[in-house]
Amino acid sequence: MEPVKVGLLGLGTVGGGTATVLRRNAQEIARRAGREIVIDYAAALDTSRAAGLGLTNVRLTNNVMDIVQDPAIDIVVELIGGYTVARDMVMRAIANGKHVVTANKALIALHGNEIFAAAQAKGVMIAFEAAVAGGIPVIKALREGLAANRIEWLSGIINGTSNFILTEMRDHGRSFDDVLAEAQRRGYAEADPTFDVGGIDAAHKLTILSSIAFGIPLQFNKTYIEGITRISAEDVAYASKLGYRIKHLGMARRTDKGIEQRVHPTLIPERRLIANVDGVMNAVLVKGDAVGPTLFYGAGAGSEPTASAVVADIIDVVRTMTTDPTYRVPHLAFQAGQLVDTPILPIEEVETSFYLRMQAEDRPGVLAEVTKILGDREISIEAFLQQEPKANESQATIIMLTHKVREGNMNEAIQAIERLDSICGEVTRIRMETLG
Ligand code: HSE
Repeated sequence: MEPVKVGLLGLGTVGGGTATVLRRNAQEIARRAGREIVIDYAAALDTSRAAGLGLTNVRLTNNVMDIVQDPAIDIVVELIGGYTVARDMVMRAIANGKHVVTANKALIALHGNEIFAAAQAKGVMIAFEAAVAGGIPVIKALREGLAANRIEWLSGIINGTSNFILTEMRDHGRSFDDVLAEAQRRGYAEADPTFDVGGIDAAHKLTILSSIAFGIPLQFNKTYIEGITRISAEDVAYASKLGYRIKHLGMARRTDKGIEQRVHPTLIPERRLIANVDGVMNAVLVKGDAVGPTLFYGAGAGSEPTASAVVADIIDVVRTMTTDPTYRVPHLAFQAGQLVDTPILPIEEVETSFYLRMQAEDRPGVLAEVTKILGDREISIEAFLQQEPKANESQATIIMLTHKVREGNMNEAIQAIERLDSICGEVTRIRMETLG
């Protein structure tokens, strides 16, 4: 079967990430989608980045119009941002019968109602997972995974730049301007960073989430917007002394009188999970009547995290193009016939770090015997703690944390340690994961 041809509008932070992820994971993506997916045409004001992104056999242009008018292109991926040219290009792509994937929250929040109506009339898809909370698949979760629920409220940290600034102010006492400049350098901030710190970017995203949660048209102009520009380092410190964190929060809540749709700085008790979402990370807490509270967490900005959502949307579109609609989403995610026989590792082959606890005679040379056994099996000790024997006891408790080691090696080491005369009873072992 012919590959599906993608036209990429924009080769900036997210466009670059999309090209990289599509190329790096091409094989697995084809197994999931049912067709090979290739970038056939890319547009950018400066196309010199293309070669560095591996787009060597790709047609290039400075004019986005070339792509939306090209009959060979099946899916237009709009990553130019803004709402004038982007709106025009998306509407033309729809008119030309092309599916559209976009990361453009401003476009969807302001013009989504019109765009969706046009797409429905033409029978094409508009996919916009990357528009909200970067790589977190929260739109899919709300539309599909939580579809049984009456959503009561949702609350989110949905602007990575603001969260990064507040976190750095709290943890390192850095100035607002200094941290904002770093967010811009790292590619988190919007082209106009007042959209981030003024709350507009978060309001775009909240408007989209609220519509999906409550089944209402997109109404950006009714969203209450307050940014973080008036938050001082003092506020952050006082809130902290009182046991709170200041977060820029988007809140959408169903009430008897109507829907609350607001973004503003908010004190949250520091024991709440969402209060501990720091740096550029995003999180969305959704309360459904059946499921209760659910929390979705991940990178809300950045090249590959956002590309993760863009590429997932491309795969979704390709599945609708190529697969029997009954099996649009394969049961095991990969297309039937594409499951592979990769072995499941026996536990002895798994590598983790370990916590070890043992009771040892408190006399010279015992520790040397234990560490020799570990060293002979290439097991490196990361931390060590010895608890003094209690009164009238001759045994000390030894705790060790190891670096990563193959479990088989650890089993041998533990058996050898337990055979030592100086070690009493069994060695307690607990596997450790840093989950970093
Ligand atoms: N400027 C946005 C943010 C990028 O900081 O979260 C992702 O939408």
